[in-house]
Parts: sequence; C-alpha cells; structure tokens
Amino acid sequence: MRKLVMMNVLLIVVLIFGVLMICPTSDAADKEIVVGFSQIGAESAWRVANTESIISEAKKHPNIVLKFSDAQQKQENQIKAIRSFIAQGVDVIAFSPVVETGWTPVLKEAKRAGIPVILSDRAVDTDDDSLWVTFMGSDFVEEGRRAANWLVENYERLKNPDKSMDVINIVELQGTVGSAPAIDRKDGFEEVLAKYPNFKIIKSQSGDFTRSKGKEVMEAFLKAEGKKIDVLFGHNDDMAIGAIQAIEEYGLKPGKDIIIVSIDAVRGAFEAMLEGKLNVTVECSPLLGPQLFQAVQDLMAGKELPRRIVTEEGVFPQEVAAEVLPTRKY
Ligand code: AHR
Repeated sequence: MRKLVMMNVLLIVVLIFGVLMICPTSDAADKEIVVGFSQIGAESAWRVANTESIISEAKKHPNIVLKFSDAQQKQENQIKAIRSFIAQGVDVIAFSPVVETGWTPVLKEAKRAGIPVILSDRAVDTDDDSLWVTFMGSDFVEEGRRAANWLVENYERLKNPDKSMDVINIVELQGTVGSAPAIDRKDGFEEVLAKYPNFKIIKSQSGDFTRSKGKEVMEAFLKAEGKKIDVLFGHNDDMAIGAIQAIEEYGLKPGKDIIIVSIDAVRGAFEAMLEGKLNVTVECSPLLGPQLFQAVQDLMAGKELPRRIVTEEGVFPQEVAAEVLPTRKY
C-alpha cells in the first residue's frame, strides 16, 4: 500500500514537472516588466488615439507595469522623463520622439544603464544605431509619395472647371518643425512632384500638427495668395480640418475650389469627406499598442527583434468615405 502511495506521489511530481517544461513561456510571461513610455503630447486626434492604444493594450498584459509620461510637445520634457525612467531602473524605455535630433546623450545614458530603447511612431537621427533596438511605425516618406501620387492622378478630374492645368498652385501645411513625419512627408511629396513641373508648391509653413495652427496658417496663405491656391497638402488631418474652416470663412468651397489632400485617416477626416470638404486622406495608423507590447514581451523573453517594424496602411479618397467610416477605430 505504502509503495502504491509513493508511486502515485512520484507520478504527480513527474506530471507537474512535465507541464512546467511544456509551458516555459508562462514563466517569462509572469515576470513583471516595467515599461517607461514618453509620449509627445496630445496635439492631434491621431496622438490621442495612439495614447489610448498604448494605455489600453498595456492593461491586457498582466505582467506589464506602464509608467506613462506626457511631454506636452517639449523635447526637454521627454529627455527629463527618459532620465527619470533610467533613475527608476525600468526594464524597457519606449518613446515617440517629438523631433529627430538631440537624443544621442540621453540614449547613451540608457545604454550605459543597460535599458533597451524602443522607438514608437517616429525615428531619431543619431550616428549610433546601437542606441535603440527597434523602430516601429509608419513609413512617412511613402505617405508623402502616396499623397502626391493621388493628387497628380486625380486633380484634373476633380478640379473646379475654371482652373487650368498649366500651373497648379499648392500650399503645404507642414507638421512640427524638425519632426520625422514633417521632414519625411515633405520629402516623399516633393520626390513625386519633381516629375510633374506644373504642380508647384507656392507656400509651405508649419501648422505644428494642430487644428488651431492649421487654421491660422491657412488664413495667412489665403491672405497672401487668395484664389490662386488650387491645392492644400496638409501633413495631418487636424491641420487640414482647421484649414477647411479658414477656407470657408474666406468664402471658398473646400474640396471644390481648393482640392485638399491630408494624412492620418482619423474619423474627423472621414466626416469632412462625407461633407465633400476633404478629397483624400492617406492612412497613418496610431494603433501601435499591440505591436509595442508584443515587442516588449519578445525582447524580455530574449528574442531578437527586427530593426524596423513597418505599419501596413491604405489611401482613402472621398468616394469610399461612407463605406469605410463605420469601420474606423480612431
Ligand atoms: O507622428 C505621427 C504624426 O503625429 C501624425 O500624423 C500627426 O497627426 C501626429 O501628431
């Protein structure tokens, strides 16, 4: 009898050990991981959706503790936040850099402390690529190209019949000065337009990715160029929506007298397209939370991450707005 009990105990021990061996990941997944995330701010609907994606996804991972910091559009605040994450000894630092340059010293501090850094949404400009492990987000140059390609392919069909094709005057609302999306979208847009010399950018200024600044700068463009303006290229939807208001106040019809191309594909852009006031939006997805925390889990489990994780995105012209709007998540 005693022998039988011993045999059963042995069998149970072997079974438990076996289960633990089959599920080695449960150990890694249970280990607490502290992630410090420095967000730029809340300048646009895109950014608000990005923050929501990060915070809500973190809650789905019971082993992740998220320390979230809002820099209110200031690089100095992001640097302070990163230094504070280093001082707290977090396991991983992730951030969306407001501008491209000026990060090397603080990233070197993170490296010295042995804390891996993930770039989310925007890249940094540094000579030392060992300062970050992966960069996840959109291809901003490609977004600029997509905006320009759509414009050259569709302008003639959509333009006000009084307008000529000899010279097409474009005004450009750039994003935050020195930011990766502002630099790259401009580059991609201009790269395509170089092949179409009748499409000319006559004014280009930053609207800082905000609706209010977009309106203000568009008012100045209208004051200077008035009815000469044929096209508005907005580096994001929020600025384009602000500009739509300025165009209406000036007495012109947005989407008809001035063709409007913008980037992000937030719900507000679809609403504007349904009203016929915006012609196309190029998608830039802010839903980076799932990718980010998967990368964090993989990194902490010792897996190698790809250096670049590019988000898949589309282009949504006015004609598909009604069908697509109900499916939009941001
Ligand atoms: O980095 C992504 C850009 O930042 C979005 O296009 C813009 O809306 C945001 O503020």
